[in-house]
Amino acid sequence: MTRVLQTSTLSILPLAVCLLARTTFGFQQNFKLPNLHHPVHGSTPLSAPLWLAAKGFGGGGSSTSNNNKTKKKVKKSDVKKTQQKILKKYGSNVAEGTQRRVDAALAKLPPHLYMATQLYQQLLKWDQRLANMSVLQQAQLPQVEMEGAQRARDELTKVYDEYDLDEHDLHNIFQQITWDASADAKAARAIIAGGEMAAPMARKIDAACQIVAAAVGKDGHCLDVGCGYGVLVPHLEQAGLESSQIHGIDLSQEMIKNARQLHRGVDFQATDFLNEYGTTNDDTDEQEQLQPSQFESIIFCAALHDFSDMTSALQKASTLLKLNGKLVISHPQGASHVTRQSNANPVMVKRSLYTAQELHSVVKELPGKMTVELEPATPNSPEEDKVGYLAVLTKVE
Ligand SMILES: C[S@@+](CC[C@H](N)C(=O)[O-])C[C@H]1O[C@@H](n2cnc3c(N)ncnc32)[C@H](O)[C@@H]1O
Repeated sequence: MTRVLQTSTLSILPLAVCLLARTTFGFQQNFKLPNLHHPVHGSTPLSAPLWLAAKGFGGGGSSTSNNNKTKKKVKKSDVKKTQQKILKKYGSNVAEGTQRRVDAALAKLPPHLYMATQLYQQLLKWDQRLANMSVLQQAQLPQVEMEGAQRARDELTKVYDEYDLDEHDLHNIFQQITWDASADAKAARAIIAGGEMAAPMARKIDAACQIVAAAVGKDGHCLDVGCGYGVLVPHLEQAGLESSQIHGIDLSQEMIKNARQLHRGVDFQATDFLNEYGTTNDDTDEQEQLQPSQFESIIFCAALHDFSDMTSALQKASTLLKLNGKLVISHPQGASHVTRQSNANPVMVKRSLYTAQELHSVVKELPGKMTVELEPATPNSPEEDKVGYLAVLTKVE
């Protein structure tokens, strides 16, 4: 998909088609763009001035990591420089600044992609609205709205066919644009906080990282999928790993740019894990070195739910795992948080994380033989509150 965004010189749909899209959108005149703001590791809204949110990046609150081993001393001058940079890029309201950057990036897409993104998000909202209605309520919807939705669906299918796209590409466009737009602000919070985060959050991340480090041992390697700006690195190092044992990949080039600046010595790649990572059509040295079964552990931290197809992501991960390797799926805020995100913003989060029962059936679809070693807690349970979402799969064959 990165390639989809890079092919901005592709032939362009005539303007007339874009105008047609505008009339097609008539089926949902009152539709509002979904809120693309997507907080990570906490609930402090990005709209809080950055320096107020500095304690516990994104986590907010006054309670911070109790071991402080991941905290770095930050120079006052660096804090000031970082604040000024963010103020310049985002303005004083980071959430609004992020949304402006998202809108600007969408507007720069070639017309066919721009139109597809508009149709795609409107249809997702429409489908979500229908799913929440009874059959009777659906039957009472005005004909004009039903016809508009059908026209939008036909238009989107036409673009898919003409440009060899599918819904995964559209999903990834939103993912990449949104995370690119928020990367600098999120990394700045981490810089200002010296890597420190709210204590309950840090404990949950440490627990996941300790499982990874134990599987990796002294000589192995781990892969952090959807690594963002490298949030896990200090936690993995604290759990005993060397930076050379840690590999991070993320779809967002901006996240990876920040990750490289923040964590020297760690191998980071900006790539789509599902369709590009480890494929041979990118012949950089790093890609050439990639062989199946090369990691002792792979972790998705607050990242699996951002994939358009979670099962495919787990399938790919299991091919990259060595025998006895551990696949760790973690979300410090738990599946119930992800469900709320998905309801609020189905464009970014298509569904919630797998329940324990779902995970047991998904495991049967994974290559090799994987077993569920640790089941995730039940959503909204006291256990979830305590440990967040933490599931561990082991490759046994
Ligand atoms: C919620 S952020 C989590 C970042 C980090 N792991 C953390 O715990 O803060 C999810 C990340 O997954 C990345 N992502 C989404 N889809 C991806 C894909 N197909 N391949 C690689 N990374 C992806 C996004 O770019 C984003 O940075």
